[in-house]
Amino acid sequence: MSLTSDARFWDRTSRKYSKGAIADQAGYERTLERTRALLKPDDRVLELGCGTGTTALRLAGSVRQYLATDISAGMIAIAEDKRMASLIPGLAFRTAAAETLAPEDGPFKAVLGFNYLHLVRDLPGTLRHIHMLLADDGLLISKTPCVGEMNPLIRLALPLMRGVGLAPYAGVFRVAELSQHLHGAGFDILATEIHASKGNDNRPYIVARKR
Ligand SMILES: C[S@@+](CC[C@H](N)C(=O)[O-])C[C@H]1O[C@@H](n2cnc3c(N)ncnc32)[C@H](O)[C@@H]1O
Repeated sequence: MSLTSDARFWDRTSRKYSKGAIADQAGYERTLERTRALLKPDDRVLELGCGTGTTALRLAGSVRQYLATDISAGMIAIAEDKRMASLIPGLAFRTAAAETLAPEDGPFKAVLGFNYLHLVRDLPGTLRHIHMLLADDGLLISKTPCVGEMNPLIRLALPLMRGVGLAPYAGVFRVAELSQHLHGAGFDILATEIHASKGNDNRPYIVARKR
């Protein structure tokens, strides 16, 4: 299994994904507001796993440059259509994974990854690569489903669904493990928050700073 097969899964899903409603709109707005407050007008920002660009279109106007990326060319094509219709200066979309970006693409003052880090196959390797793309003291801002904290039935169902092509690869880890991976890759954690409008959705919003 590889980036190519993961990209195929997300390409197949992209049209349906673009039409889906955001499950918790208030929680999403809280994440946007909090993220905007961490960004500065002169920042260069990278988003990984941007999907169809919904978040990029909401945040790009707050910074100088915003490069939004995704491994799925299907997702990026939909995002690009939206960009053409909105013409936000400084916003660009590109089909890419963290590992396919070179140091010359950076450095970025912030890297954003929403509903993304559980989908990468080599989490320590991806985090080290993100660290390399960041400027000194740059921020990695993420919100990640921690499947290891969720109902065990979800953990049982995931491999079965993956076997029949109905679910993507998803890493199973707990918040503490994700935090350890961040530390190990050279990040200090500044904040861990839950933005869900009801209870704990096990998707911690984590602000981490490059050491
Ligand atoms: C659940 S969607 C989240 C999209 C968007 N960030 C959001 O919160 O709505 C996950 C996205 O990550 C992308 N993705 C999956 N694995 C990836 C990887 N290794 N590198 C970059 N993008 C990836 C998928 O193509 C998909 O668009």
